[in-house]
Amino acid sequence: MEADPANLALVASGSFGTSLRDDVLAGFAQPQRTLPAKWFYDQRGSELFEAICATPEYYVTRTELAILQRCLDEVARALPTGAVLIEPGSGAGTKTRLLVEACQPCAYVAIDISRSMLSIGARETAVRFPSLQVLAIHADYTRLDVLPDERLPVGAPRVLYFPGSTVGNFTPEETRAFLGRVARWIGPGGSVLIGVDTRKDPAVLEAAYDDRQGVTAAFNLNLLARLNAELGCAFDLSRFRHRARYDAVLGRVEMHLESLADQQVEVAGVVHALRDGETIHTENSYKYEPAAFRSLAADSGYTCRATWTDDAQAFAIYHLVADAADGGGQPACAP
Ligand code: TRP
Repeated sequence: MEADPANLALVASGSFGTSLRDDVLAGFAQPQRTLPAKWFYDQRGSELFEAICATPEYYVTRTELAILQRCLDEVARALPTGAVLIEPGSGAGTKTRLLVEACQPCAYVAIDISRSMLSIGARETAVRFPSLQVLAIHADYTRLDVLPDERLPVGAPRVLYFPGSTVGNFTPEETRAFLGRVARWIGPGGSVLIGVDTRKDPAVLEAAYDDRQGVTAAFNLNLLARLNAELGCAFDLSRFRHRARYDAVLGRVEMHLESLADQQVEVAGVVHALRDGETIHTENSYKYEPAAFRSLAADSGYTCRATWTDDAQAFAIYHLVADAADGGGQPACAP
């Protein structure tokens, strides 16, 4: 292993909240069994996710990248220079490096639940931009209340980058809560650059989450492999199949693992009977029309300053600015 570059610091926050075991126990106790999506991202899961992004059906990554490339000058003009750039769920960080080059932040904070992906992505960014201060935080960003402000430049404007339609993996209520917490990280006047998928033909949406090569299926099934490896479960992966279906009323693609037989599975000492055709719900991916997303942002305390999309409006990138906190809110960079 090479030594860390001088401009890179890796810290563990300890903010993981619940354990895999507790989450699985709680999720399996519900009538519609669920497994929380954050557990997708072990090393294998993170690698499979990168592979999903390269499948022909998953238009999300390449559409967002194309919009960013085409509008990069405008994006750079809209965002402050010399900012602290914060990226929850930073992963491999390919789009981030484009943004860093264009916007010249003074510091970059990468936060990811996958330690391996975090250190690979943050290291690559640190090596490529030697004068950028890179802080990599190993954490579940949905549980992180405050940033380590003492390690960050004082007084610099803050920009939160949240690409990949990751926000779609929250329910609208969770999105409001998340954007509210982010407002405290970035302070009044702070910026959010966020990529969000739009509603479209259900066949296109379902294919994006069920590619022909079976990468998304392998990603979903890897969750069971992880339970086998880490909790000593004995799921037979050949007795489950991946399912993706679009609910046009809720505007979300639901990912499930469907049992292909009546079977019994033991999870952390509790035996569960799964019926043939019964599913375990593993993820949602909400889609928003631009006007609807802007109104959700407004409800969450932000003003949308710009929307960038492709010609087909298959995907949109929004620049949101946090409104002044009403009634005694503290800016994130206050001591
Ligand atoms: N943020 C991504 C999305 O909703 C995550 C994702 C892509 C995903 N493909 C998936 C999550 C398949 C679970 C299963 O587009």
